[in-house]
Amino acid sequence: MIITKDIPSAVDAVNQLKKQNATIALVPTMGNLHEGHLTLVREAKKIADKVAVSVFVNPLQFNNADDLKNYPRTLDQDLAKLEQENVDLVFTPTPQTMYPNGMENQTTVFVPHISDKLEGKLRPGHFKGVSTVVNKLFNIVRPDFAMFGQKDFQQVAMLKQMVDDMAIQVKIVTVPIVRDSEGLALSSRNGLLTAENKTKAHLLHKEISGLAKAIKEGNRDFEQLKASARRSLDSTGFKTDSIDIVDAVTLDTITEQTRTAVILVSAYLGTPRLIDNITVEL
Ligand code: PAF
Repeated sequence: MIITKDIPSAVDAVNQLKKQNATIALVPTMGNLHEGHLTLVREAKKIADKVAVSVFVNPLQFNNADDLKNYPRTLDQDLAKLEQENVDLVFTPTPQTMYPNGMENQTTVFVPHISDKLEGKLRPGHFKGVSTVVNKLFNIVRPDFAMFGQKDFQQVAMLKQMVDDMAIQVKIVTVPIVRDSEGLALSSRNGLLTAENKTKAHLLHKEISGLAKAIKEGNRDFEQLKASARRSLDSTGFKTDSIDIVDAVTLDTITEQTRTAVILVSAYLGTPRLIDNITVEL
């Protein structure tokens, strides 16, 4: 496994792989790798000759200084896991490497329509930070495929739009949410839950599964459904940040044309903010 920290050596390593005519799948991560990430790596191995993983806690996408400070960083364990998965290339840049002129001077990529609504409204600048870093990673690794988890539903929609709009020659591959045995979506932020909150965290998935069932059974009173889910979550110790039921393609209000809806939820449980989603065929 080749480990590179700076851009020229990452580009060199990629050039070597390309010389062998190998297809490359990139798994962009912020580290603290769990089964969700490793599933992305395993899916990447199925579709490409070589797998590259980036591990970079991207400061540009954090709109909250404490969240950035507390974000778990476990590079040694991450590298051991990637070695075990037979990953070919790991890129672990520092913020200085990615943003040598400072974040405020970094050229950015912004995907309108998608970036400022829903999660984007609650986390100003977040999606611009994601599209910018992913664009830069694509330019460095030039992958044929890029793997993303469906847990970050809006992120995937935004990145697909970016790739289309900018004619980036990469196929975005999405992988279903990986959950623990109780249904909690795996996330690096789960490690920040207290022992007591760990026992409650699965209720987030339970709640949106209940909403999905109600919608499937014909309930279209979305406002009432959202209000009751919020009440129920808040009564069990969550502090619900948002619940949205929107068209899964446009991420806008559901209309007669909507085929698939998505329920998106974000809620604090103590310090960490958890997100989850579920799609419903209408
Ligand atoms: O989903 C994530 O972990 C991050 O947003 C990503 C795509 C690695 C960009 O920093």
